Amino acid sequence: MGWTLIYFLSCIPIAFSFPETDGSSFFDTQGPSFSIEPPGRVEFMNNAGNTVDCAANGNPPPNIQWLDKENNPISSIFKARHVLANSSLYFQPFAAEEFRQDVHWSIYRCTASNSVGTIISKDVVVRAVVHQRYEPEVQNPGGFLGSNVLIKCTIPSFVKEYVTVTSWLQEPNFNIYPSLEGDGKNHMLLTGELLVYNITKSDAQKVYRCRTHHKLTQDSVVSNNVGKIQLTEMRELVPPIINEKNTKLMIRAGDPLVVACVAYANPKPTYRWHTKRANNEESIQHMLATGRAKTKDGTLIISAVTKVDNGAFFCTVTNSEGTETFKVDLSVTSALSASIQPAIQTVSLGHTADLVCSISGFPRQSVVWMKDGGTLRTGSRVRLLSNEHIHISSIVKEDKGMYQCILKNDFESTQSSAELRLGEVAPQLLYKFIEQTMQPGPSVSLKCSASGNPTPKIVWYVDGFPLPNNDRLMIGQYVTMFGDVISHVNITAVKSEDGGDYECRALSKAGVASHSARLNIYGMPYIRHMPKLSAVAGKVFTLKCPIAGYPIETVNIEKGKIL
Ligand SMILES: *[C@@H]1O[C@H](CO)[C@@H](O)[C@H](O)[C@H]1NC(C)=O
Ligand SMILES: *[C@@H]1O[C@H](CO)[C@@H](O)[C@H](O)[C@H]1NC(C)=O
Ligand SMILES: *[C@@H]1O[C@H](CO)[C@@H](O)[C@H](O)[C@H]1NC(C)=O
Repeated sequence: MGWTLIYFLSCIPIAFSFPETDGSSFFDTQGPSFSIEPPGRVEFMNNAGNTVDCAANGNPPPNIQWLDKENNPISSIFKARHVLANSSLYFQPFAAEEFRQDVHWSIYRCTASNSVGTIISKDVVVRAVVHQRYEPEVQNPGGFLGSNVLIKCTIPSFVKEYVTVTSWLQEPNFNIYPSLEGDGKNHMLLTGELLVYNITKSDAQKVYRCRTHHKLTQDSVVSNNVGKIQLTEMRELVPPIINEKNTKLMIRAGDPLVVACVAYANPKPTYRWHTKRANNEESIQHMLATGRAKTKDGTLIISAVTKVDNGAFFCTVTNSEGTETFKVDLSVTSALSASIQPAIQTVSLGHTADLVCSISGFPRQSVVWMKDGGTLRTGSRVRLLSNEHIHISSIVKEDKGMYQCILKNDFESTQSSAELRLGEVAPQLLYKFIEQTMQPGPSVSLKCSASGNPTPKIVWYVDGFPLPNNDRLMIGQYVTMFGDVISHVNITAVKSEDGGDYECRALSKAGVASHSARLNIYGMPYIRHMPKLSAVAGKVFTLKCPIAGYPIETVNIEKGKIL
């Protein structure tokens, strides 16, 4: 049974202002990238403490988290370690007895995550050093008249890593600084020892002190003791004797190298350098001939070490009494760097993507690929074409996110990240509510769901206007694990005035999809309040009269007349 009365209703359009559904910040996402990536090594004194920064850009702003050696998120530890409000990691100054291996001598990483994905920093090796006084000590080497002598400055092993010998003092006031070649008599090596050439009786009268510098405390300490060359007066014949026959040196490509070959011998020996470097065509003779290297009375000098110098160098010391060999194992290193290209790529579902990590630096040990902070799982679809090349075929939704290549050797690690975006897919409605006609009283639920990339959002309208605010009406919206959005409008205890043309509109920057159907509630005709409307001259203007009640027989629209 319907209403038989004929009602004349009037709608009064005055000014039309349609609410804009602004979702710009919702749409323009950007994966995280480090604006401050923590350094690979953090050393500090226990009494100073330290702060390690980690910050990242992205939209939405990434969330920073610190992980421990086992990749577990860390928390603050009273009086030891704190994660600050700005995401920096703060190590509080501590007393020697409060040293904790798990906190102060460990490896950390920081991660940056947002809705796009997650990236992880390179390893941060943390070394807190407990302050201890140290005493450098000058040794008293022996030598024959006319021979070369190496004077060493011994640094206690507990600080050796942080202390360098900066100069030598020949008393009372002659300073000797490190150089490639020395002054012909005194040569302070880049490694800190003092080489004295062709010693004379007067050299044996001189006294030497070494000066050292601690890079963390900035303390400069001069040896308390003095060293002196012990001249061997005896005329006996001695074959070459070398105390340390083997040494390992690590050097950055481009840096100079100075190695002294010094033997205790009588008569004065001759020194000859050669190399036995694997598949290296460049002999020492060639290096000398081209001027890349020179030798000076047993001292080998290379002004700029290159990658090919990696390997073993030998110094053969010979006199009439015998021969001895001194071996230097040279490891040439170069800072690691990695860079994934392209940094951002957009790929449509079903298509393919390639990620190439350009790497440099040596020695090189490993390249590991990560996806959103975890190890990248490879298979038939995600393939490792080489260590440095990932090929993804038939792209699916889960492939989107942040990819990283992490390059590591024994000395350092570095990383680069890239974002894989899915091509835009216009919203599509997967589920639509249907027209319903009902009596007042019960509850009603209207549902729409939509897919698309980026995930659309759903907005609701009734008769072209946003839904009215009332406590019987609830709008709910959530995104499923597949990235589809589901939205409900639930109205409890429906009244006839709730009737109308309901519309769900799924929108993203890729487009809009909408659906509308009528909800009819039996009852007297009713006109909802209309906001001000505005129309653009010359454009089509549509107006739907926000009427409720059912059944309605006639609707009149009138202009400029208030009933
Ligand atoms: C974070 O805060 C600490 C303490 O206020 C400060 O030392 C550090 O520089 C800050 N880091 C950044 C990245 O702003
Ligand atoms: C030391 O003396 C030898 C000769 O005995 C000489 O060939 C050599 O150049 C001298 N070394 C230096 C550094 O002056
Ligand atoms: C609306 O009703 C549906 C179906 O009864 C329910 O699944 C949903 O959670 C409700 N939503 C809200 C916001 O109440």
